[in-house]
Amino acid sequence: MLSLEDIRTKLGKYNQSHVLQFWEELAPEAQTNFLSQLSDINFDDVSNLFNRALGSLSEETKKLDTLMEPIPPDQFEYEKGVDEDKLEEYRKKGLKAISKSRVAVLLLAGGQGTRLGVPYPKGMCPISLPSGKTLFQIQAERIRSVVRLAKKETGSTGRVCWYIMTSQATHDATAKFLEGHKYFGLNEDDVVLFQQGLLPSFSYDGRIILDRKDSISLAPDGNGGIYLALRKNNILQDMERRGVKYVHVHSVDNILVKVADPVFIGYCVMKGADCGNKVVRKEVPTEPVGVVCQVDGRFQVVEYSEITDQTANLRDDEGNLIFRAGNICNHFFTTGFLKLISENYEDQLKLHVARKKVPFVNEKGERVTPSSPNGIKIEKFIFDVFQFSKNFVTWEVPRHTEFSPVKNSESAENDCPSTARRDLLKLHKLYIQDAGGTVTCDEVEISPLVSYAGENLVERVYGKVFDGRTVISAEEEVVPNGF
Ligand code: UTP
Repeated sequence: MLSLEDIRTKLGKYNQSHVLQFWEELAPEAQTNFLSQLSDINFDDVSNLFNRALGSLSEETKKLDTLMEPIPPDQFEYEKGVDEDKLEEYRKKGLKAISKSRVAVLLLAGGQGTRLGVPYPKGMCPISLPSGKTLFQIQAERIRSVVRLAKKETGSTGRVCWYIMTSQATHDATAKFLEGHKYFGLNEDDVVLFQQGLLPSFSYDGRIILDRKDSISLAPDGNGGIYLALRKNNILQDMERRGVKYVHVHSVDNILVKVADPVFIGYCVMKGADCGNKVVRKEVPTEPVGVVCQVDGRFQVVEYSEITDQTANLRDDEGNLIFRAGNICNHFFTTGFLKLISENYEDQLKLHVARKKVPFVNEKGERVTPSSPNGIKIEKFIFDVFQFSKNFVTWEVPRHTEFSPVKNSESAENDCPSTARRDLLKLHKLYIQDAGGTVTCDEVEISPLVSYAGENLVERVYGKVFDGRTVISAEEEVVPNGF
């Protein structure tokens, strides 16, 4: 920890001396904690960052239409357009990689979940499912399920390590929750939590905002903080030690996510990709979702605000939107690619700057929650590395089988817990119908430990009618949570 004098000198150099304005009023313990917080900050980096961020803030949102091209056909496949044999080939390839412990899952769970607004990490959100399961439990069980599928296919039990990126906002609660639930049946050694970094929030003139008299305002550095966090926490070495070659990275909030999806992994591996992106078709041209495409010959995600309505509405001969590859925060990376980015390109990642309402301490020492934006937060995005890929591929999947996120609170009426619940139970209904069962209600849930993606159900459901709240669970789940 640096001394008070060292900190004063640094703050003076970077014109940030105001953060110590209440120093004399602080109790000794608060002073020590504050010094420790300030010692962890690299003011050189912070000052550079602010200057870079200021550049992007002053840029107007440019329309990129003239530079955009769709993904070339040989780097793009739609699951429904691939014949059964090919799909099976991809699936087997993925399962084989899983059985050889070459696959890891990296869960992005460091976000603050401000839109959902629950006082705990999003992964702990129960979504009111018949089983009472949370997003974390569903995802952990899907890992266990896919490992079993791989064993069935190959005879070998692979280890799939579950790396979870948390942030200061989510770390302790996540760690406690997972430990308290015995990692939902995963081997404790195969669950690795690590924290992403934090960045200060700034006033528009570049002064770090004081959150309280004894702390500055810090927020997670965005899901693109993953590359720095992998390096700082030696996660890539851990992956190497375990023999991991392929990493499936996804957001915590998609209730339908096929964790370590063997088909997606197999497709990427067979294509020799270093970076792959799973997408869903944009529903309407105006849907505010980023689309993956090429801009000036480089792959990137283009936000809805960056294209004109005319381009968003372009359609091909079959009537499909030309720019339809909707980004859903679901990626494949080789460990080699992650290493390349973490070591060589991390500091080139674009900075996304948002004007936000940042609570602060005023001159009188009172904490104020502003009613309009008063400062900026800087974030990096995970997808901004596509441009560095040597072989980038995109895999499109049907939305109803793969994507329904929990972003908002119920009042938004979309992408909220009840729509996620609805979509999961709808999909399970389809699985049961395909296996010869009948569901006459919307309350039947299938445990991931019974079926990963609709398989293994005939024995359990054929010829049966499900007309009330039911959980089709595995024997090992003695009493499902929530009952
Ligand atoms: P979102 O961009 O939807 O953000 O994250 P969020 O934090 O969950 O929610 P809001 O915007 O505050 O309402 C997409 C994924 O990226 C992760 C989230 O946890 C989620 O899985 N994420 C986001 C991080 O891991 N770190 C971050 O700094 C931001």
